Amino acid sequence: MEDQAEELRSLMKDRDDAALSDKHEPIGRNSRKTRIITITSGKGGVGKTNVATNMAIAYGQMGKRVILIDADLGLANVNVMMNLIPQYNLYHVIRKQKKMSEIILETDYGIRLVAGASGFSKIANMNEEERNSFISEMYTLSDADIIIIDTSAGVSKNVLGFVAAADEVVVVTTPEPTSITDAYGIIKIIATEVDNLNINLKMIVNRVGSSIEGKRVADRMTSIAAQFLNLKVEYLGFIYDDPLVSQSVLRQKPFFVVDPKSKASVCLKHIVSRIEKTEFPETEGIGRFVRKLFGRNWD
Ligand SMILES: Nc1ncnc2c1ncn2[C@@H]1O[C@H](COP(=O)(O)OP(=O)(O)OP(=O)(O)O)[C@@H](O)[C@H]1O
Ligand SMILES: [Mg+2]
Repeated sequence: MEDQAEELRSLMKDRDDAALSDKHEPIGRNSRKTRIITITSGKGGVGKTNVATNMAIAYGQMGKRVILIDADLGLANVNVMMNLIPQYNLYHVIRKQKKMSEIILETDYGIRLVAGASGFSKIANMNEEERNSFISEMYTLSDADIIIIDTSAGVSKNVLGFVAAADEVVVVTTPEPTSITDAYGIIKIIATEVDNLNINLKMIVNRVGSSIEGKRVADRMTSIAAQFLNLKVEYLGFIYDDPLVSQSVLRQKPFFVVDPKSKASVCLKHIVSRIEKTEFPETEGIGRFVRKLFGRNWD
């Protein structure tokens, strides 16, 4: 196992240059940079998929080119929320059965969807040819301004891979004590397992009854992370507990579309504008994402 991880790492050392050279990189890539945001949580069911989907749509409505990657294997995932049934996923791209352009789904909501499914967990088993072709295919996503990745809860290797690779990692929690402790748990694991020193950790408190409640949860988390992990966690904001969210899930229509003026939608707009206010370094983007994705121990 160690050997294979080491091998992957050294392979990627060589690949780093190749991945960034024009062998894979589309012409004009430097003219825009892609911001990659991974949405995760400690506990399940706290609202990741709703946050990821509706955040993607909110960005889309701002005129950004958005790709939502569904990396979750769960049942209530992105495509269910948008009433879409993807026929193909990243697995088919890795196996060279499909091109990225053939698996990307246009949605009714101004964003594009890539079904990750079990695709990313197959990364460790790729041979060199598959890897090269996969890197090239990943680069075709670099025409997007934003890539939002919805993960499953907890600390599977799959999730850590996305965490390590993203520009920004948004941890979602609710005010529930178990959700807060599990959120802290994943932040701690991120701090120790992921050797991305520039990791940008952010936090959303979902399902609050008041802004004060959100602030209280966030303050506790940011101060504990600073004190015990020496880690900065930025509070992005809260989302009210809003019956519209579950109603929208049942209708398989994102709440931001059902009612853009709802409490949940207004909160989400605030969160997006908060993210937009923070710059991210020039060097990021798909190149770094792919590199980091391959740099991890996938065994
Ligand atoms: N702000 C909210 N107000 C009311 N209900 C909410 C809110 N956010 C989420 N929910 C409820 O929680 C359920 C789970 O949300 P969601 O599927 O987004 O969570 P998740 O973190 O992606 O779950 P999983 O860990 O299973 O992937 C929703 O179907 C909805 O009923
Ligand atoms: Mg989910």
